[in-house]
Amino acid sequence: MTLRFRLFTCATLVAALGFLSAPVATSADVPPDAAKAATAADVAALQKKLEELGATPKPGIARTARALSLTLLVYGDDATKAQAAKVYAGIKMKEKDFKAGIEAGKGLTSPKGGKFDPKAIEGTYELHEIMQPFALARSGGLNIEKDLRDAIKAGKIDSKDAIVMGARTAALADYTAKLPTDKAMTNAGMKTKWERWAKDMGAAGKELCDTAAKNDAKAVLAAMKKLDASCSNCHNDFRNE
Ligand code: HEC
Repeated sequence: MTLRFRLFTCATLVAALGFLSAPVATSADVPPDAAKAATAADVAALQKKLEELGATPKPGIARTARALSLTLLVYGDDATKAQAAKVYAGIKMKEKDFKAGIEAGKGLTSPKGGKFDPKAIEGTYELHEIMQPFALARSGGLNIEKDLRDAIKAGKIDSKDAIVMGARTAALADYTAKLPTDKAMTNAGMKTKWERWAKDMGAAGKELCDTAAKNDAKAVLAAMKKLDASCSNCHNDFRNE
């Protein structure tokens, strides 16, 4: 083996190992400060969506409200989680009955505690609701996709906004990973791709939180580009099938 070749293999191995050990974003991975900022932002956004939902009961708004309850279930404090679980359960999509959720949303302002059991929500959410916050506000979403692309185009973003965006996408990536589409389940290769894009999304979201907390503008831009790439990669493989 030539030295050059050996160096090359070594570098490839290091890169491969780096990829294998790339962090999967979980609730524990969102830094505490980011979790706190995102919790406050989500409670405010969720209460606003619930108010809209009371006036115009559109499914797009309801899906975003469910998704925001789910992000709170990832990084909220215990009392907020317990209340968010009530909001989530009270937005009944099939029945188009949102009353209990709208009522429970009011309690998010000063949640009284209680216990949230993660098992209670297993298998109850859908990809369509996890993706809804990314959609435009006029479709009931939170404009996240447009905000991300605009920020990349402008080459900058407010640090606080970046932290909330990073935490939200990291949390939504956790759910996305668990929701492979039928196409992603057709064979092992497709399943691996799904997991890879969801994992990239989570890692980029977390990186966005970390770099924004340090006010490292260059690294923030790089993290946003990675995040955008994870969306596009997965959509190219699995959206509009
Ligand atoms: C692992 C795969 C995957 C990743 C990662 C992913 N998406 Fe999606 N997304 C999908 C699929 C599949 C659909 C279409 C099915 C659906 O909406 O249920 C979709 C739908 C959407 C929609 C349409 C929602 C609607 O109203 O129906 C938007 C907007 C969206 N994604 C934005 C994003 C953004 C922004 C990111 C990255 C931050 C992202 N997605 C990451 C798979 C993914």
